[in-house]
Amino acid sequence: MAFLVTGGCGFIGSNFIRLLREREPSTRIVNLDALTYAGNPANLADLEGDVLYHFVHGDITDRSLVARTLTDHSIEAVFHLAAESHVDRSILDSTPFIATNVTGTQVLLDASRAHGVKRFVHVSTDEVYGSLGAEGFFTEQTPLAPNSPYAASKAGSDLLVRASHHTHGFPAIITRCSNNYGPYQFPEKLIPLVISNIEAGLAIPVYGDGLQVRDWIHVQDHAAGIYATYKHGVPGEVYNFGGRCERANIDLVKTLLQLMGRPESLIRYVADRPGHDRRYAIDCSKAEQELGWQVRVDFSEGLADTVRWYRANTGWIEKIRSGEYRRYYQSQYGHRGV
Ligand code: NAD
Ligand code: TYD
Repeated sequence: MAFLVTGGCGFIGSNFIRLLREREPSTRIVNLDALTYAGNPANLADLEGDVLYHFVHGDITDRSLVARTLTDHSIEAVFHLAAESHVDRSILDSTPFIATNVTGTQVLLDASRAHGVKRFVHVSTDEVYGSLGAEGFFTEQTPLAPNSPYAASKAGSDLLVRASHHTHGFPAIITRCSNNYGPYQFPEKLIPLVISNIEAGLAIPVYGDGLQVRDWIHVQDHAAGIYATYKHGVPGEVYNFGGRCERANIDLVKTLLQLMGRPESLIRYVADRPGHDRRYAIDCSKAEQELGWQVRVDFSEGLADTVRWYRANTGWIEKIRSGEYRRYYQSQYGHRGV
């Protein structure tokens, strides 16, 4: 018996593997990751020497590698987190988003079905639902209306997962979560970007009027939701996860400046992101009622902890900024990724 986690060297994947190790201490965990710019083996440095943890360097679009990994390790459950995940990058070039998020998901589904995987948890995003006005929430019944190439590629993967259950009875479940924050998030995303810019005395770019709203959830709460879906979710179902914590971007930036004792004069309003979604807000009552899951991390405590983590791990950020983290893994695993 073993678990396969895809994308385990990324932000949520590494936090999820740590939670899985705690909850399932005697089960083998295999991490399949291509180590793109967002994948950093240092995110799981604490698992070095764990004989029940195994890293496979490879791409989820590689059919034979995926099939071999499932067979060699007798995988029974798959947690699929590997993805291209940044909206701004998808606007510049959608090619890797289609390859990994759409094609890669289908390759993984085909191989997992052929191998007889018993549970497949597909980790998706609230961005597939599009954008909200000032009122209302996304429920699992909200029609898909993705607005960015990233969101469209994730919606495509969700539909492929849905079809594999409908057509083949494959035991797949979809999760859709709101914006995560916490340790090990790549500093292209808003919160780690703001913290590391403040730390370095750099300006903070705020897109458009800064009044876009996101619903923030600590990555540990999301990881617990993915695990609860594996344990208690029903195949073919979708479960939304969110933090019940809406913040306008500009308010969040000001809170971070306050927490770090720096002036608001660091804020720079810059050109808006094309097609920028205005507001995300999640109704997660189905997950609460059916999975026994709930948000545990209070936002102000979680945010203060996150600031402390980035301040205590300046070396981690520095290695990313300088590109050193990639030189390390290239020497270990050869040149891969974007
Ligand atoms: P991330 O960009 O930090 O990490 C992605 C990981 O996937 C990296 O380790 C990368 O090397 C790996 N990867 C990329 N392409 C691959 C490929 N072809 N084969 C194998 N590995 C590959 O992303 P994240 O923020 O940790 O997001 C993880 C998942 O959660 C994604 O599916 C994302 O859509 C979803 N999600 C993210 C958020 C969020 O706020 N970050 C919210 C909801 C859902
Ligand atoms: P991001 O972290 O990229 O997540 P997503 O686009 O998936 O929600 O961005 C969060 C919000 O912050 C989003 O409304 C865009 C905005 N933003 C900025 O204003 N400035 C920035 O430099 C970044 C990266 C994001």
